[in-house]
Amino acid sequence: MKPVNVGICGLGTVGAGTFNVLKRNIDDIDRRAGRPVRITHVGARRDNPDCDLEGIQVSRDIFEVVKDPDVHIIVELIGGTTVSKELVLAAIKAGKDVVTANKALIAEFGNEIFAAAEQKGVVVAYEAAVAGGIPIIKAIREGLVANQISGLAGIINGTGNYILSEMREKGRAFDDVLAEAQALGYAEADPTFDVAGTDAAHKLTILAANAFGIPLQFDKVYTEGIAEMTQEDVQYADELGYRIKHLGIARRTDHGVEMRVHPTLIPNKRLIANVDGVMNAVLVFGDAVGPTMYYGQGAGAEATASAVIADIVDIARDIDSPGLVPHLGFSVETKDLNVLTSEE
Ligand code: HSE
Repeated sequence: MKPVNVGICGLGTVGAGTFNVLKRNIDDIDRRAGRPVRITHVGARRDNPDCDLEGIQVSRDIFEVVKDPDVHIIVELIGGTTVSKELVLAAIKAGKDVVTANKALIAEFGNEIFAAAEQKGVVVAYEAAVAGGIPIIKAIREGLVANQISGLAGIINGTGNYILSEMREKGRAFDDVLAEAQALGYAEADPTFDVAGTDAAHKLTILAANAFGIPLQFDKVYTEGIAEMTQEDVQYADELGYRIKHLGIARRTDHGVEMRVHPTLIPNKRLIANVDGVMNAVLVFGDAVGPTMYYGQGAGAEATASAVIADIVDIARDIDSPGLVPHLGFSVETKDLNVLTSEE
C-alpha cells in the first residue's frame, strides 16, 4: 500500500507528543491503518529538543508544508486562531485533509472551515480538540449515532480540574497549582482561557454541535470560570458532602439548546464528583442507551497526541476511497438558530 505522508505544523507540547507517539508505535499504527503512515514534513519556527528530526523535511515557514505536493495530511498544532485559520484554509484550498487539536479555531470558525472543506471534498478532523485523549467526538457521532441525545455534562478542562483537586486534597494555593499545570503542559498558552472558562466553552460548543446537530455557536455559551474559587469554598463544600467541579452542560429544552459552563456543587457520591486531577469525564444521555460516561486524561502531550493520531489513521484508511470518515453530522448554516443562554 502507498504510504500516507503527514506534515505536522507546530512542534510544541502536542506537536512533539504526536511526533514521538507516532514514531514509537509505528508498527501498530501502520497495521491498524492498513498502510504506512509517515511523518515526512514538519513546519515549526524552531526545533524541539524532544524530537529527533533526522530524515524529516523541516520548514521554518509552515505554509511551505501546505504547498508541498508530497504531503497528504496537514496536522495543525500551532494553536491560536489567526495563523492557524489561514493555514487550515490554505490546506483545504490545496485539497489536503486536515487534523487539528485547536478547539478555539473549531468553536469560533468551524462553520466557515467545514463549509470550505465540504466544498473541496476534504476532511477536517478534530477529535483532539475536546477532552484530550477521550474519543468523545467518535463516541457521540459513531457509537451513539442511533440516539436522540437529551443532554451532556462534563469536566472538560484538565487544568481547572487539576487546580480544584489539588486545592481540596492538599490545600494548595490556586496560583501555585496553575504554575505547575503550565509546567506540565496542561494549560493553554494563555492560561486565562483555562481559569476563565473559555477553553471549556470552546469544547462545549463543539460537543453541543455534535450532540444536537446545531451549528457551532460559541457566543451563545454562558461562561463562568474558576478564578473566584477560594480555599474556603472548596473546604466548605467538602464539609457539606459536596465537590466543586467546573462543568460544561448542554441540554435540549422545549425552547432550544442550553449551553453553560460554570462551577457546580456535586454530591460527593456521584461518579463525576470523584474525577480528579487532569482527568476529564463526559456524561452523555441518549434516549436508547440511557446515561453513558467517558473518562480519561483531558490534557497533556501524549494523551492529546493519542486523539490526533486516531484522526490521522482514520483519514489514512480512507484516503483512496473518500467517504468512509464519518459525516460532519451538524449544520454549519447559522440562520434560524434556536440556542438559549442561561439568561434567556
Ligand atoms: N488547557 C487544556 C486543558 C488543554 O487543560 O484541558 C486540553 O485541551
